Amino acid sequence: MTLSPSLRKLVLTIHVITTMGWLGSAAAYIPIAVYLLNNQDADMIRSAIQIMSLVANFIVVPVAFASLLTGVALSLGTKWGLFRHYWILFKLLFTVIAVFMLVAYILELNHAASIASKSTWSSTELSMLKDSIHIVHPSGGLLIVLVATVLSVYKPKGMTRYGWRKQLEIKSSTEPYTTPRWIKTVRSAVIVLIALIVTLILFN
Ligand code: HEM
Repeated sequence: MTLSPSLRKLVLTIHVITTMGWLGSAAAYIPIAVYLLNNQDADMIRSAIQIMSLVANFIVVPVAFASLLTGVALSLGTKWGLFRHYWILFKLLFTVIAVFMLVAYILELNHAASIASKSTWSSTELSMLKDSIHIVHPSGGLLIVLVATVLSVYKPKGMTRYGWRKQLEIKSSTEPYTTPRWIKTVRSAVIVLIALIVTLILFN
């Protein structure tokens, strides 16, 4: 289904608002986490974890899912397609990874918030609360959303094999497919990034 020009603009507006909301809210978690990591005050930890959990549930998660859904709708409803251009394919991959990371973090944060709401904590609970404060998830999420933003604005040229075949069908041509050089570079960078994230999670 192709989106009409006015509907495309509406969906694009929601897409940009939600993705930028995601970027801003992920960025806000970093100074809060850094502050808490250097502040051992129990009341401060209690309030901050509860606020972080609330913001995550009511702002970060909805905007992240809205960004993913509007992105998919824009791809399927325009000439771009979902699997035809590398910049879209990478954005889809990055966004799905970021959403998974986010959901994992929210589950941990919600558990921490339920402990934080108690009037007293055991030493195990206190160390669990401290463990739930870290900068790995928000920094990783922020990095991914930043990369997706750069890809969206520059829209680097480069078709996937599937997109190339579809284009040839329309043109009735048989030109051979060559993988763009920048795609090979990005592929290696993505592998390094994923390895880095996995290592950070494992050793955190
Ligand atoms: C964190 C994730 C994302 C960010 C930060 C992001 C950001 C943006 C931005 C800033 C634009 C506007 C670019 C412009 O008009 O020049 C855009 C457009 C677009 N995005 Fe995303 N996006 C994200 C996720 C996705 C996903 C998951 C998809 C689909 C798989 C997607 C598909 C698109 C498409 C197709 C457009 C162009 C729409 C058009 O010009 O008609 N985006 N995105």
